[in-house]
Amino acid sequence: MASEKSKILIIGGTGYIGKHIVAASAKLGHPTFVLVRPSSASDPSKIGFFQGLPGAEVKILHGDLNDHESLVSAIKQVDIVISTVGGLQLADQVNIIAAIKETGNIKRFLPSEFGLDPERVTKIEPAASALAPKLAIRQAIKAAGIPYTLVSNNYFAGYSLPTLAQASPPIDKITIFGDGNTKGVFVVEDDIGIYTIKAANDPRTLNKKLYT
Ligand SMILES: NC(=O)c1ccc[n+]([C@@H]2O[C@H](COP(=O)([O-])OP(=O)(O)OC[C@H]3O[C@@H](n4cnc5c(N)ncnc54)[C@H](OP(=O)(O)O)[C@@H]3O)[C@@H](O)[C@H]2O)c1
Repeated sequence: MASEKSKILIIGGTGYIGKHIVAASAKLGHPTFVLVRPSSASDPSKIGFFQGLPGAEVKILHGDLNDHESLVSAIKQVDIVISTVGGLQLADQVNIIAAIKETGNIKRFLPSEFGLDPERVTKIEPAASALAPKLAIRQAIKAAGIPYTLVSNNYFAGYSLPTLAQASPPIDKITIFGDGNTKGVFVVEDDIGIYTIKAANDPRTLNKKLYT
């Protein structure tokens, strides 16, 4: 008999990588929940994407990273929480940790990582400062004793290749580090969606990092 699929909550599911992870969760048959701010939940350009996705149903739950009750209520309904909030919200993930600690039902938490491993980028600015909140959240998860997986996936191809990883086009100047032969790693966002959902459910990735 097939085992029951875990229920997955994505916080930040309307965002750039969040959409791919929501789509992968539905595609792999997981009952999928997305915590969406009320202002965004009434915006078709934000939530239209979730309608008619192939696979399991995607349920929209209204809530906010800064609304404790909404986090607790959403987290109680699922087995796994995946955060894909953006750079400005990384530090506020302490609120998710507090809610998970309170409900006590979560089998796995995946914080918003999905880039370089902050433990390996400790000296190069501005990356070090930008990644510092990810390090702090890792420490808070461990201190709270919450089961976790960290997805470290280098660069999203669709995000960084069109601009050659520059902050904004036009591309008038490119800095090449080293002798120009240093390898970079670029990943396809849909693949990261699938690997993230598989890792979230895999006993081998419990309390570990997944590198792609
Ligand atoms: N590897 C790479 O190349 C790469 C590139 C970019 C990002 N990343 C990483 O990927 C992760 C996600 O970044 P992203 O660019 O995909 O994020 P994003 O597009 O900025 O999306 C942020 C998400 O967080 C939601 N959000 C914002 N404030 C919220 C609040 N108060 N309560 C609940 N939800 C809130 C947004 O909802 P609304 O729709 O309501 O605003 C949106 O869904 C980050 O850790 C980032 O560092 C990696």
